Amino acid sequence: MMPSSLPVVRLKPKANARAIRHGFPWVYDNELVIDRRTRKIDAGALALLEDGERRPMGIVAVNPNSKIFCRMLDRNPEAVIDEAWLFAKFARAVEMRDRLFPAPFYRLIHAEADGLPGVVVDRFGDTAVIQPNAAWAEALIGPMADALQRATGVTTVLKNGSGRARTLEGLDEENATLIGTAPDAPLPVVMNGATYMADLTGGQKTGLFYDQRPNHAFAARLCKDAKVLDVFSHVGGFALASLAGGAASALSVDGSAAALDLAEAGAQASGFADRFETRKGDAFDVLAALGEEGAQFDVVICDPPAFAPSKPAMEKGLRAYERVARLAAPLVAEGGYLVLCSCSHAADLTRFRGASVRGIGRAGRNAQLIHTGFAGPDHPLMPQLAESGYLKSLFFRL
Ligand SMILES: C[S@@+](CC[C@H](N)C(=O)[O-])C[C@H]1O[C@@H](n2cnc3c(N)ncnc32)[C@H](O)[C@@H]1O
Repeated sequence: MMPSSLPVVRLKPKANARAIRHGFPWVYDNELVIDRRTRKIDAGALALLEDGERRPMGIVAVNPNSKIFCRMLDRNPEAVIDEAWLFAKFARAVEMRDRLFPAPFYRLIHAEADGLPGVVVDRFGDTAVIQPNAAWAEALIGPMADALQRATGVTTVLKNGSGRARTLEGLDEENATLIGTAPDAPLPVVMNGATYMADLTGGQKTGLFYDQRPNHAFAARLCKDAKVLDVFSHVGGFALASLAGGAASALSVDGSAAALDLAEAGAQASGFADRFETRKGDAFDVLAALGEEGAQFDVVICDPPAFAPSKPAMEKGLRAYERVARLAAPLVAEGGYLVLCSCSHAADLTRFRGASVRGIGRAGRNAQLIHTGFAGPDHPLMPQLAESGYLKSLFFRL
């Protein structure tokens, strides 16, 4: 749609127009003049954003049902948001990833930080999985899939509707095959010398946690000849990297039998099956049971799901992180390493580190913090949006 025919949304005179001009990508509902006409704009429609003095600020995507009423798409008020515009975003993202990675297996689009608000795309060679977690992306899903295919050359594009944010945007949870044919078996993905098996249609998220790649690699450097415990392992993220790094053995713990089956298949494909074991169960129970058994490991990694996904969940989440640290620390042999991870937006680095250190202290252990890892460069940060920095991995020596 041409910009001149778009509806207009206007900031209240007192709204912080400067923050938006300086790059903040969202406009909350309480910052806008909301009249009957604004309320009637369809979820996912595009609009022209103006400041309190009616000066144009850019093209935004609107969702009147969400607290994030507008997401900035383009600061040029003349921009036309069409397939060519989408193609340019994908092409720019591919250009950077292809410099960084030896093969096309990476997060291709990390939402706002890659200029496509609310959109996540993970690439697995010839197959890409889109999570359109904002209404505008759902509305433009056809041109988006076409542009993605043209920019990358992938032959299959899948839509994954499981993103948590979709409910807030009023979207359904449906998955779909947008282009090509969905793979009928898990796809092998080589990272850090190990082969992981990614289930793109039935697995968690888009199939693999690419964000931990640099932290898997750092852990692997600590794991030569080590006995390794990987708790909340999913498809063997840290365990398989540690075996590729020369670990003597690795035990993966997860609550999901499907994830552990994929981890076993990955160990087999990597040629590590003889050094790899799995244990299905609730991580807290397994940690406690291993403690009672007096088990000891040279390296213990805990990478739980987001225990503090939002501000209201923070105190409870921090207590859960502390508990993980308290149960895991006793399992680490003297001089060994404890790796504690958090992918919670709300628990920032300082709070998460505080909870981890408290847990280690309550277990009666002393620690050096030797390294703090974050998500890899295929998960860029938008500096104006603290929310986009979520992953923290703390490497302690006990
Ligand atoms: C963030 S993912 C782990 C990613 C993985 N460490 C990697 O590097 O690829 C969290 C995992 O924790 C598992 N999980 C969640 N709650 C659990 C629980 N209470 N006990 C055991 N596993 C759990 C999920 O099945 C999921 O595989």
